[in-house]
Amino acid sequence: IWSSLNLEKDPVTVLVTGAAGQIGYALVPMIARGEMLGPDQPVIIHMLDIEQAAEALNGVKMELIDAAFPLLKGVVATTDVVEACSDVNIAILVGGFPRKEGMERKDVMSKNVSIYKAQALALDQHAAPDCKVLVVANPANTNALILKEFAPSIPEKNITCLTRLDHNRALGQISEKLNVHVSDVKNVIIWGNHSSTQYPDANHATVKTFTGEKPATELVGDDKWLKTEFIDTVQQRGAAIIKARRMSSALSAASSACDHIRDWVLGTPKGTWVSMGVSSDGSYGVPQGLIYSFPVTCDKGEWSIMQGLKIDEFSREKMDANAKELMEEKSLAYSCLN
Ligand code: NAD
Ligand code: LMR
Repeated sequence: IWSSLNLEKDPVTVLVTGAAGQIGYALVPMIARGEMLGPDQPVIIHMLDIEQAAEALNGVKMELIDAAFPLLKGVVATTDVVEACSDVNIAILVGGFPRKEGMERKDVMSKNVSIYKAQALALDQHAAPDCKVLVVANPANTNALILKEFAPSIPEKNITCLTRLDHNRALGQISEKLNVHVSDVKNVIIWGNHSSTQYPDANHATVKTFTGEKPATELVGDDKWLKTEFIDTVQQRGAAIIKARRMSSALSAASSACDHIRDWVLGTPKGTWVSMGVSSDGSYGVPQGLIYSFPVTCDKGEWSIMQGLKIDEFSREKMDANAKELMEEKSLAYSCLN
């Protein structure tokens, strides 16, 4: 379905859960405009939310119709998880209980893991074979882990979580520091968990200059900033947005979710990697099976972890702290389910 040679491609069916919420409201028009799968790819959008949000969800459906998107070939708005998951090629799972000001991500764990177990069962039985899944809702890595465990028919490689927002935030901080355009910065890495423990790593990042690509570390020339303020700002950006807006980041989360799926399906540009939360194969000493954010390149709908990057002691410590936190989240999630 991804490589159809027809001029008029077959539509791809995309599920968005929590579609009446604020990320959902920002995301569905981006998908319908082709920002996720390309300007020549027709889409059918399935939107799921809970009973209490049914009226608002129907309002979103009315707006999608009113916007007269040329690529939008169908919309389903439902509170029935089976109808929502049926024959979907891509599932973007945004639905859940969001973190509010003052709450830690662990506080939202018990509310969300049981939702993810139920949705895993529905996707397992009703999604299209080879469905690609992106979990956005927090705790994103652990929700994706639960989904992976309870949807055994979906290939492990097809279950991912969003750390592209953190990746984009890291690019943004370097571009602001150097006063260069964000598109001239590439190859930052987010290692680990989408939490305040995440490790934003600029050691391998490069910046396009008039005289070629230069290491970001050399241009920044301030190791202390890279090891402190840069990391803290990226780690705390979600909380800073919640404090400022009294709601979690919606515009940037929706945009980054489009970036994640677009690069996964259509491929990353040559010489560029992005960060994705994926099932660890043991690379860089990360315990196998954890959903952990790595630098990945994508080609023909498959991601591969970028191998061979040099890891210094400072990085090793932060990467291990993320693995430890994710192991703890995993046990906590299982204790919530039991
Ligand atoms: P929101 O509260 O505005 O929307 C969540 C929606 O999910 C609501 O409409 C709610 O009714 C719905 N919902 C609740 N339970 C559901 C269920 N069982 N099935 C389907 N829908 C359900 O929240 P939001 O601001 O849109 O954030 C959504 C999630 O994304 C939160 O968990 C938030 O923490 C997370 N988030 C993640 C990232 C990231 O980078 N990974 C960034 C921003 C926000
Ligand atoms: C974000 O990174 O903006 C979100 O995950 C919000 C949060 O709960 O931290």
